[in-house]
Amino acid sequence: MTAKPLFLLTDPAHYEVSYVINPWMAPGEWSRDRARHQAAAREGFLALKVALEAAGAEVRVMKGVAGLPDLVFPANAGIVLDRRVLVARFSCVERQGEEAVFLQEFEQLKREGLFTAVGIFPQGVFQEGAGDCIWDKTRRLFWAGFGQRSVRASLDVIEKFFEVPVVPLELISPRFYHLDVCFLPLAGGEVVYYPPAFSEASRARIRTLVPAELLIEASDGDAAAFSVNAVNFGRSIIMARPPERLKKILEERGYEVTAIDLAPFMMSGGGAYCMTLRLDRSRDVDTPAAGHQIRAAAGAA
Ligand code: ARG
Repeated sequence: MTAKPLFLLTDPAHYEVSYVINPWMAPGEWSRDRARHQAAAREGFLALKVALEAAGAEVRVMKGVAGLPDLVFPANAGIVLDRRVLVARFSCVERQGEEAVFLQEFEQLKREGLFTAVGIFPQGVFQEGAGDCIWDKTRRLFWAGFGQRSVRASLDVIEKFFEVPVVPLELISPRFYHLDVCFLPLAGGEVVYYPPAFSEASRARIRTLVPAELLIEASDGDAAAFSVNAVNFGRSIIMARPPERLKKILEERGYEVTAIDLAPFMMSGGGAYCMTLRLDRSRDVDTPAAGHQIRAAAGAA
């Protein structure tokens, strides 16, 4: 277990917006000025990497592959917990070629000793990784989205593989096609969510499990700015440039918000969280601070 949070990112050399599998994707806009968007994507990627490292994380970068532009969103590659990874099954043919690439990367991580087990969803059981399955360290459970890209049947597979509780959340809007664009549990126990993305029953479920004082409602503007799609560890939150209102709410609760320009990735329907996959996610230790506390409590510090 590394002391620093460890994130996987994908180099954007082969990133482009060349097809439409969600309502945000704009291949026409991309192709009008490819070179400029490519350069801006490289810049946004580097800014994200620098922000993660500045906040105390370690970053591992894998290579991109020509013809698989959405490899830059490794959150969709798989679900990780306690050194076990469950590899995604993509629902759109455009992304299915990514499965073998990510599988190879995870097998490599297993050879390096970082993972102890690599599983994969059964054929036809679509599930798009940590984009639709988000660990909540406060409640020690997974929140799992279904209804858009991931299927309801994937939830049983997750529960069996990791042996942790999985709370189903039904996504009802094609604009919010992954859980990570409308739902963000924070290290302090707060949950940021965008209510219109969820079925009435799922909204009720969220309100039952998260006390009102910890629930933060994202506005249409926050959601459209991909600010809910943020990376958080400890007090650090890294997100695509948020509306001032949301930034203020988070800062008032003691978080440090780093805002970066991710416009070229938003043109594909993604923000900061989905450009990363946390590799050292564990049910017991989530942040270096928590690690120190645990070591101190055990008398080993
Ligand atoms: N173009 C990608 C897709 O539609 C964007 C994925 C963003 N990932 C995420 N976890 N939200 O699949």
